[in-house]
Amino acid sequence: MSTPLRIALIGAGVMGRQHVQYIRQEAGIELVAIGDPFTSALADEYGIPAFADHRRMLEQVRPEAAIIANPNDRHVPTAIDCLEAGVATLLEKPLACSLEEARRLIEVQARTGVPLLVGHHRRHNPIVAETRRILASGALGRLVTVTGLWLARKDERYFDAAWRREPGAGVLLINLVHDLDLLRFLCGEIASVQALASHAARGFAVEDSAALLLQFENGALGTLSGSDATAAPWGWDQNAGENPAMFAQQPEQPCYLLAGTEGSLSVPQLKLWRYGEERGWHHPLLCRQGQPSPGSAMHNQLRHFIQVVRRECPPIIGAADAARTLALVEAARQAARERRPVTPQAL
Ligand SMILES: NC(=O)c1ccc[n+]([C@@H]2O[C@H](COP(=O)([O-])OP(=O)(O)OC[C@H]3O[C@@H](n4cnc5c(N)ncnc54)[C@H](O)[C@@H]3O)[C@@H](O)[C@H]2O)c1
Repeated sequence: MSTPLRIALIGAGVMGRQHVQYIRQEAGIELVAIGDPFTSALADEYGIPAFADHRRMLEQVRPEAAIIANPNDRHVPTAIDCLEAGVATLLEKPLACSLEEARRLIEVQARTGVPLLVGHHRRHNPIVAETRRILASGALGRLVTVTGLWLARKDERYFDAAWRREPGAGVLLINLVHDLDLLRFLCGEIASVQALASHAARGFAVEDSAALLLQFENGALGTLSGSDATAAPWGWDQNAGENPAMFAQQPEQPCYLLAGTEGSLSVPQLKLWRYGEERGWHHPLLCRQGQPSPGSAMHNQLRHFIQVVRRECPPIIGAADAARTLALVEAARQAARERRPVTPQAL
């Protein structure tokens, strides 16, 4: 059996704690230190060294890998520190706060050749694998429309952390970035975005709500509505069962409706609707339910990261790929500002 992989965590908040839970369940990996400038509580809990400065931690502990779960505006500088130190990195989403920053990170990753996986963890969910299998089977025919929803009401407490109210956060970059990434992964690249954004419900500097129109390269048309200020049951986090400790679950409700010329699919329920012998709106559609294999997205992501660190496979989503998702967030922001369709920037 190979020796456990020595891994460090940078950023010991809500998400950092979750990563630690999965690390502790995985035999091939050992948590060796935690870097966080404001708290040593998690390191103390597990009796491992705590560092206020992650650069000192990298120098002294020399981990083989690091998971970065600090605030969004620290992602790029911290990831660059890790890559320059030769430490393979799992960087929480979003990749960066802007494409300009993302380009710097892509350059450092390419120059150092150190592996970087971006934490768009939904890609590792078995429901997503089964959705991709159904789409690839042709059961929907030609994909015509895509409807996506991420509607939730975050607790007021969530916004006690100042960074969540300020530029660098917002529902687009914190939440809809996941949906945009998943819609790309499921339905193909997005050629153009129109959008409206609003901060009227919460009154913070960043938007709390957005409505997007998406034109996919394959011709499909999409809408994505999102808000962190709505009492609503439709959103991946409430529907897909990934994190019931954090989100009350509404497993019967869908968050994506994919409709094609031959059939349609609700996700995450994987209800596939198709006609029987006779087609057309006078005839009832028949429903069949897809069955994903068991497994947790976050745990699968960690197992994949271990393989990436050991150079056994390329990351399922690296910096350049995640930058394409980020380009969609920037396109949406620009579209909302300028009230016109925007083509996401090429990288
Ligand atoms: N994949 C997901 O579904 C998901 C879910 C939630 C959050 N996130 C991402 O995880 C990251 C952390 O979010 P969170 O909700 O845990 O935030 P949080 O505020 O709970 O935790 C952030 C932690 O980082 C620490 N920190 C602040 N500045 C730091 C620095 N310079 N270096 C190291 N640590 C620093 C803070 O002390 C805090 O402990 C964000 O990037 C967020 O977008 C991802």
